[in-house]
Amino acid sequence: MGSRIVATGRATPRTVITNHDLKRRMDTSDEWVRTRTGIAQRYVLTTGESLVEVAAIASNSALARAGMSAADLDAIVVGTVSSDFGFPSFACQLQHRLGADSIPAFDVAAACSGFVYALSVADTSMRAGEYERVLVVGADALSAMVDWNDRSTAVLFGDGAGAVVLVNEKGERGVLASLLRSSGASWDLLYVRNRGIQTTMDAEGRRPNEDSIRMKGPELFKIAVKSMEDVSRKVAARANIALGDIALIVPHQANLRIINAVAQRLGLATDKVFTNVDRYGNTSAASVPIALDEALEVNRIRDNDLVMLNACGGGLTWGANLIRW
Ligand code: ACO
Repeated sequence: MGSRIVATGRATPRTVITNHDLKRRMDTSDEWVRTRTGIAQRYVLTTGESLVEVAAIASNSALARAGMSAADLDAIVVGTVSSDFGFPSFACQLQHRLGADSIPAFDVAAACSGFVYALSVADTSMRAGEYERVLVVGADALSAMVDWNDRSTAVLFGDGAGAVVLVNEKGERGVLASLLRSSGASWDLLYVRNRGIQTTMDAEGRRPNEDSIRMKGPELFKIAVKSMEDVSRKVAARANIALGDIALIVPHQANLRIINAVAQRLGLATDKVFTNVDRYGNTSAASVPIALDEALEVNRIRDNDLVMLNACGGGLTWGANLIRW
């Protein structure tokens, strides 16, 4: 028994911020952001909006396409680092919003690799016979964690959610293999402090305001390219698939230059790589499922195609899933 993605969905907040909008707030330009990252615009949460609500819209869309309701689910797994609360988890909040009572709901925290991790965790549990129908979601709102005066990070991130419905199934199609990696030694290349803990019992006042995203961009760039290449090669080998047989890679949409460099190292033409980073920016754990949903919508994926998902993010974490669609 394995697991197969039977439906997908996506959603974003309402507000679009273009590079021209950013130029009015900070010393940057549309030309700089486009040439260094490939990003032209991103969606961001604004006051009164909730990421859980955005994730619920993506989830309900996937469930409707699967011909299911939340009551049919056996588990909810969410890749996210954007819960409003230390606890309850984002997944429990989403479960409540969807009206799916009693089933296990939990978060997988792997930053931008969150969806790739969550899909692997769900697939492995389903192979073990734990669940038959699982909702796997990637949702993040890193725009709420950046310092909007720091041009080196503020231009990169956007918010959103993507969801897939996984069903336990016998046969050739479905998740063939996954591979997950982490390196805690490189944690300080990209991190944000937990806003939930503003002070400890022994401290006199609030901590200094160091709670926005910190990033060593150029170092991260090099490691992201190497690690995504490596994990892509290894997951293909694990599934006994030649890279040349892959119909489409749906990578984490961090930066067009990272995506192109990985494709080049893997020897894959750019038409075998799906990109939408220009319209969404880096939506962290949401980026792979949002891209997957769009790729399906524009018929870039057909039945029996070999599709690879790969990602790298804070942790550091990286990973890949290989799927026969
Ligand atoms: N607008 C204009 N100028 C800028 C901006 C901006 N938004 N940001 C930085 N600059 C300036 C810098 O100050 C620097 O100026 P200086 O030369 O006068 O000091 C110059 O541009 C070059 O800066 P670099 O950091 O060397 O630019 P680089 O070409 O490395 O691009 C970038 C920066 C886009 C952040 C790149 O390093 C990168 O993409 N790294 C990966 C980061 C990433 O994707 N993180 C997301 C999460 S991790 C992941 O998902 C894989």
